[in-house]
Order: sequence, then structure tokens, then C-alpha cells
Amino acid sequence: MLSAVERKVEQFINDLNDKEISALYSKLPHGKRLRAKLILKIAGSNLSAIKTAAVVEMIHAASLLHDDVIDDAYTRRSKPSLNALYGNKTAIMFGDVLYSKGFLELNNISTEVARIVSNAVVQLSLGELKDVSLSKTFNTDKDIYLEMIYQKTASLIEASAGAAAILAGKPKSVYLTYGRNLGLAFQMIDDLLDITSNSETLGKPALHDFVEGKTTLPYIYLYEVLDDAQKVKLRSLHAKVLTKEEEEWITQKMDEHQILLKCYAQAKELIDEAVELMNEHGEEVLSDIAQEMIDREF
Ligand code: IPE
Ligand code: IPE
Ligand code: MG
Ligand code: MG
Ligand code: MG
Repeated sequence: MLSAVERKVEQFINDLNDKEISALYSKLPHGKRLRAKLILKIAGSNLSAIKTAAVVEMIHAASLLHDDVIDDAYTRRSKPSLNALYGNKTAIMFGDVLYSKGFLELNNISTEVARIVSNAVVQLSLGELKDVSLSKTFNTDKDIYLEMIYQKTASLIEASAGAAAILAGKPKSVYLTYGRNLGLAFQMIDDLLDITSNSETLGKPALHDFVEGKTTLPYIYLYEVLDDAQKVKLRSLHAKVLTKEEEEWITQKMDEHQILLKCYAQAKELIDEAVELMNEHGEEVLSDIAQEMIDREF
């Protein structure tokens, strides 16, 4: 039923009656639709669920338009990003149009759904801002990292699951916990894939986070185990374009200390908890979504 969500997004875009926006939207490649999938699996394929899923996917797309400007990223979903094609100004304003049309449509769903989704967007924006601020220094604080990824990524996934539970009359707190765990693990895996995968598989730049100043969980754990001289070296490489040798030094140190396994295990713990929770509530399909997410390659 994801195609019903695609049609609803197209309808929302057509409502705007703006040729430039329609042309830009047609240039926007589709993503995995994880958030829409969750909503329909929890709430069924009724009109309110389809509208909520369409709004959430528009908001998510807007966040990525802005994110690629913020991160100087020129590839998205295996294609040149909108900012690469049309510049930052167009990408930002197209993002604003998607956000605001999404908020407008939330008013036609329900107050409770509107509140939970719009609050998540506040959190997402605060999280993206925190990500930018943190990247100006070498952050070594794991708790700050976890709070930031909760805000920038988990909050919208948590709200998607929670909003769908509201629509379906299911116990909200159970689905909020599921979405939160899934969202945190999702960003942890995204941060791991930035190191382990290549740009072709990812459809976006690889080994880009550290260059952008982001000390994601693997860098935080690596820093903890390095000796003093190595700590100085890792700090000196922060937020710089790296040579092949420097890249290899980082990946070799990560291998040596089994850093990626440690991060994966931490994400897996969150997923196991989410899977168990969904199994207890007879939601095997949602367990499977969580399981597939942790095993993904892009
Ligand atoms: C990408 O999200 C941004 C992160 C939160 C890591 P997705 O991986 O869900 O993006 P698409 O929609 O499938 O491209
Ligand atoms: C997640 O962070 C972006 C949003 C929540 C908007 P990233 O910056 O890591 O996402 P990617 O890797 O560009 O997809
Ligand atoms: Mg990014
Ligand atoms: Mg980012
Ligand atoms: Mg990333």
C-alpha cells in the first residue's frame, strides 16, 4: 500500500499549483520509505494513516534536503543531491515548502497526531543544530552523541510509530519505545556504514562524517582505547580531508580494537529489545522490520 502514500504525496504537491515545485519534486528520488512503512504496518492502510505517512515522508525528505546543505553532501539516494543540482538556496526553500505543506496537512488528521509529529520536527531541528555545533570540536562524550542522534533521527521514527498507534487505538507507549529503539539503532548503523561501506552501495558519500567534523560513536570508542600519542594523532585528523594513508590508519585502528563490532553490538541490543517488545504484542512484521534494519547494507 506504499503506492497510496506516493499518490497522496503527489496530491499534496499538486495542491500547491506551482510548476517549479512540481518539477523539483519530480527530480527527487524515492528513499526506502521506512517511516511510511512503519505507519501503515501499525495503523493499517486507512486514509488517516496514508495521510500521516505522506506527511512524515515529506518532512523526512525536507530534513534530507537541509541535511545535505548542512553536510556539504553532493550525492543522495545514488543521484546528485538537490543542492548539487540547483544550489543551496533552492534546496533550502524546497525543504521549507515540504515542511510547511506537511504541517498544514497535519491539521486535517488529528490534534494528537499533529502534536506528536510537529514536536518530533522541533527535536529533529534541535538535533541537527546540535550535530553542527558538536562538529566544531572533537566530541568525546558518548551521552551527548546519544542525545543528539535521539533528537535528529530517533524522534521522527518514534513519533511515526506513536502517531500510528494513536490512529489504531493501540498502546502508545509500547510503540514509542519500539520507534525510539529502532531510530537510535538506525542512526548508529548509518554512522557505522559511513565507515564500512562504499559510496556506490550507500548512494551517498562514504567516510564523510569525520571529514565533516563528526565524531560518531566509532570515533568516540576508538579515542577511548588509543594511547596518548595516538589520541593526539586522531585529533589532528579531525575535520580534515584525509589522505589514503590517514584513512587506512583510522580503519586499521578500528579493526585492531574491534570498534565496529562494539558499536554494532550496542545497536543490536536496542533492536533485540524492540523485537522482543513487538513479539510480545503479536507484531511479528514490526519485529522483522527491526531485524532487517540492523542487517542492512545501505
Ligand atoms: C537517512 O534516512 C537519514 C538518516 C536518518 C540516517 P533514510 O535512510 O531513511 O533515508 P531514505 O529516505 O531511505 O533515503
Ligand atoms: C541524519 O544524519 C540526518 C537527519 C536526521 C536529517 P546524517 O547526516 O548522518 O544522514 P545522512 O548520512 O546524510 O543520510
Ligand atoms: Mg548527512
Ligand atoms: Mg547530517
Ligand atoms: Mg550519515
